[in-house]
Amino acid sequence: MLDIQKIRSDFPILSQKVNGKPLVYFDNGATSQKPQVVIDAITKYYSEINANIHRGVHTLSQLATDAYEASRKKIQTHINAKFAHEVLFTSGTTHGINLVTNGFASILKPGDEVLVSALEHHSNIVPWQMLCEKTGATLKVVPMDENGELIMSKYDKLLSEKTKVVTVNHISNALGTINPIKYMIEKAHEVGAAILIDGAQAAPHLKPDVQELDCDFYTFSGHKICGPTGTGILYGKEEWLNKLPPYQGGGEMIKEVTFEKTTYADLPHKFEAGTPNIAGGIVLGTAIDYLNEIGFENIQKQEKELLEYGTKRLLEIEGLKIYGTSKEKTSVISFNIDGIHPYDIGTIIDKQGIAVRTGHHCAQPIMNFFCIPGTIRASFSFYNTKEEIDLMVEAVKKAQRMLS
Ligand SMILES: Cc1ncc(COP(=O)(O)O)c(C=O)c1O
Repeated sequence: MLDIQKIRSDFPILSQKVNGKPLVYFDNGATSQKPQVVIDAITKYYSEINANIHRGVHTLSQLATDAYEASRKKIQTHINAKFAHEVLFTSGTTHGINLVTNGFASILKPGDEVLVSALEHHSNIVPWQMLCEKTGATLKVVPMDENGELIMSKYDKLLSEKTKVVTVNHISNALGTINPIKYMIEKAHEVGAAILIDGAQAAPHLKPDVQELDCDFYTFSGHKICGPTGTGILYGKEEWLNKLPPYQGGGEMIKEVTFEKTTYADLPHKFEAGTPNIAGGIVLGTAIDYLNEIGFENIQKQEKELLEYGTKRLLEIEGLKIYGTSKEKTSVISFNIDGIHPYDIGTIIDKQGIAVRTGHHCAQPIMNFFCIPGTIRASFSFYNTKEEIDLMVEAVKKAQRMLS
């Protein structure tokens, strides 16, 4: 069993008051809070070894380079990538997806098809739309049902030899659905398509094994897994990363530059132009260590209890409807109350110190599917408690009384 109070004491922000009330932070889907070890590691980097990497012969540059590359190796082990050079540092999931779509611009042709799922975050829709506009390829959508589950029989039918790329999130940010990605990866490969998994909402809850999954790309954000903002990872299979052209040109990504021709550096540097977020990359490794020390099994157990308890308690509220009722689901509860705009509930419960997200959650097609403007989303992390859920339920009831 996790000692939640001890874990909570690792996170300085959790003992803060907001609007005069103890903070109840249920916006973990947007970003996670940071433990003291992560905050300390940032200070330590800037206090002790700050220097540019891969460039200097001097000691600090070497120390910073070693720490950065050690973090890459740590992340390689964490996601079980075959090679460290398959692990690219990015600024986040959005960057990772754009890097891939940019690369496919030189591969796709008119008549080719890109399959996205109906459950995507805008950052896994818009870059693919832009790619299709550029190349003349066609965007097709794998539909979902009322529970927020993707319809696999429809997916099977949409796949054909025209399908060149499939993209799907591991877990939906708006509904919490855990998608059957193993099946989707196998099926995509049967027709020769590449597949990208948006792991932004999965990485906080589980340890992806990219070799076991056999996905071609897997991307996630550091700030959602207790790491700093402006950090992220794109895993890509070596053969794909060799096939795709560089995303950005600049320093570090070259072998040789002349005015006639430039040759590119080997992986991973080919995709890491310019000075990266060095402190962020190093500290992302610290965050991953922290989560592994807690253990993903423990994290999942705690979050499952919170999901079950939160679902039960919220459903006690008259007129409350939960969106996203898939069998496989993570600790996200998206809901609305009859006749009340989600924004109004969010604003009132914020006055009680309760932080939830309201709106379309960068997933407007999902909101359109349910014919709603948005939802109230409570997303729990392992450091949340049932007592906090009780506080939220009371605050929502109070808001409902005020607004009815
Ligand atoms: C499923 C999903 N994909 C992509 C993103 C984009 O992540 P970032 O803004 O960190 O690039 C998010 C962020 O909420 C997300 O939930």
